[in-house]
Amino acid sequence: MGTPHNEAAKGEIARVVLMPGDPLRARHIAQTYLQDIQPFNTIRGMLGFTGTYKGVPVSVMGSGMGIPSIGIYSYELFTTYDVDVIIRIGSCGAYAPERHVFDVVLADSAYSESTYALTMSGDENMIQFPAMDVNACILDQALALGIRVDPIRFHSSDVFYNGIEQPKADAIALGCQIVEMESFGLFHNANVCGKKAACLCTVSDSFVYEDEIATPQQREQNFDAMMRLALESAIA
Ligand code: HPA
Repeated sequence: MGTPHNEAAKGEIARVVLMPGDPLRARHIAQTYLQDIQPFNTIRGMLGFTGTYKGVPVSVMGSGMGIPSIGIYSYELFTTYDVDVIIRIGSCGAYAPERHVFDVVLADSAYSESTYALTMSGDENMIQFPAMDVNACILDQALALGIRVDPIRFHSSDVFYNGIEQPKADAIALGCQIVEMESFGLFHNANVCGKKAACLCTVSDSFVYEDEIATPQQREQNFDAMMRLALESAIA
């Protein structure tokens, strides 16, 4: 039937899944944007829902925080539930001065010091890539919706509370403009499973402008442009 972490029956999850980190945001997205929603998972509170957007089935499920967590959930979605595409819709911190709170950014690559890809499949590459055709679709939809989205390199970090500066400096030297904690694992899983993934993030805080901070309520509710973009891309 299901997996140790997902009680959905096969067939209850759509071929495209949107994954915010926060399961409560998954519920908010389902309740706000989807019709005919059916919950499919409550194990560990990692809520998932399938509904329709403009008549097309779409699922939304929390990923949890960090590469290990999205690594588990996305692998099971790709392999047990025959999901074809996962679009992560997350938040991130800005490294680069040209990135401001509430900007929407798209990963064109994800750099990480994480050993996830090495441990999972012997892949020593520290840069993993999304599905370029999904990215192209997202950029087309962004143009149609009039939403500015810049494709940039993400730092997918294992550490939120850094005690040292070097990892951030290394990531910036490799061209990373923002930091989040999941896309590297998601992209690796998609590539290993022969599936597709992309990652959109809204900038929630900045390392450059420390007064630019989104409130928790804004984090949960105000990412409307990114959600519309992800949903239109999911059904395109
Ligand atoms: N670091 C890592 N992940 C994040 C951040 C951050 O500052 N902000 C949002 N996600």
